[in-house]
Amino acid sequence: MFRRALAAALAATALTGTASAQKAGNGQLCPDFAPCCGLYNDCGVGAFCVQGCDPVHSHSLGACVPNPQCKGGNYKLNSLSDVQTIDKYLGDASKINWVSQGRPVLYEDSILLTMAEGTVGTLLSSTHYVWYGKICAKMTTSQGKGVVTAFIMMSDAKDEIDFEWVGVDTENAQSNYYALGVTDYTNGRNLSVSNTVNNVHEYCIDWKPEELKWLIDGNEMRSVKRSDTWNETSKRFDYPQTPSRVMLSLWPAGLPSNEKGTIEWAGGEIDWNSPYMQNGYYYAMVQSVSVECYKPPSGAKGNGDKSYIYTDRSGTEGSVERSNKQVILGSLYATGEDPQEGAETASTASRPTQSVNLVPGGNPGGGGRGEGVQTSGIGSPTGGAGNPDQAQPTDNSDGTGNNDRGFNQGNGFGGQGAGSSLQPGLGKVGGGAVAIVVAILGLMVL
Ligand SMILES: *[C@@H]1O[C@H](CO)[C@@H](O)[C@H](O)[C@H]1NC(C)=O
Ligand SMILES: *[C@@H]1O[C@H](CO)[C@@H](O)[C@H](O)[C@H]1NC(C)=O
Repeated sequence: MFRRALAAALAATALTGTASAQKAGNGQLCPDFAPCCGLYNDCGVGAFCVQGCDPVHSHSLGACVPNPQCKGGNYKLNSLSDVQTIDKYLGDASKINWVSQGRPVLYEDSILLTMAEGTVGTLLSSTHYVWYGKICAKMTTSQGKGVVTAFIMMSDAKDEIDFEWVGVDTENAQSNYYALGVTDYTNGRNLSVSNTVNNVHEYCIDWKPEELKWLIDGNEMRSVKRSDTWNETSKRFDYPQTPSRVMLSLWPAGLPSNEKGTIEWAGGEIDWNSPYMQNGYYYAMVQSVSVECYKPPSGAKGNGDKSYIYTDRSGTEGSVERSNKQVILGSLYATGEDPQEGAETASTASRPTQSVNLVPGGNPGGGGRGEGVQTSGIGSPTGGAGNPDQAQPTDNSDGTGNNDRGFNQGNGFGGQGAGSSLQPGLGKVGGGAVAIVVAILGLMVL
């Protein structure tokens, strides 16, 4: 009892001031006790090291676990059995193909990405990374002011290729790309398409080392050549070139806390009493995702067929190596440097009294635009996300998403608790757009 109380007290005090100490960026790397850098330059262990772990800003290149290599196939999203919540996935991509944040819901033969009031929506991301390939999604979008549906490719070095749909324009898909997380918005282009809400279209990203194409229903809508992306300042091609996850997302660009430009881009602030919501949430529907893996670029380092690893911090194609290394973490307290930390078999020897982020918050599916729904420091311990009991890595029994069919078409509001989730608080804006945080000492002595 005493130990539990101590842990809670530690967690509570630690929660209030260490966020800034756990930030990277601007030449600053993550500290050794929280070595893995997430999408918003927040540092942590556990889930921070498994997916979206930035090789440019992490404490060491080995802190991030290797990226599982591309796996081709047609992924039918007609069940949630291939979806694991982010706080359960420890890196074994041979067991699961999709990781979720927020609340995916099964509806007929598709998965709905849902967004209820007070949440940052839902993100599905692939466990395997693609290093050039053709990636297609059959899907419909949501609609309404401030509501953004996204199908993007995102690398750990923050390269990004986007299809995005703002909810006030159902006749266009917006295409965009970014390199190394530099938010240059001048590369966006509209691609004309008919009623993205009612019609299932097939959207494809055809990503080759020399050229990138966006296709809709088999028609080429846009292409960008790598040779046209030279940046004279940085002396590199601002072209997406590092292994990337497939992400499907519904996220709230129109939150008042977001930058004005983002809210305007998305058509205004979100109406949480909108007729476009059903069962208490906005939704987009994904039927299937197909992935064709291309050969690695000529001259690529290594010939392993298990993973991609980074050999330096440049975030360029040349820094990527094909490897046979695989790392599966023993617990949410582990890192690539210390993969068995916190596993039941590991010693519980003394650790520094530090608080540390275990699971990223926010909705990285917003990509470069998602600045306002990021992990914004550490939330109040009462918000749920800071409760160590919810982050205990001991329950591995059911790692899948919610298996309820909570969607009744045309039924208006009042479905079964749209905001509830297997990840208490993870999708919540107040306490839960923030990371799950714990005091290491507290966990070690429990
Ligand atoms: C795309 O179309 C919308 C109108 O629906 C417009 O506001 C926006 O500026 C266009 N974007 C580009 C990049 O042309
Ligand atoms: C070139 O790269 C620099 C450094 O990353 C960046 O700040 C700048 O915006 C880039 N220029 C263009 C035109 O994208």
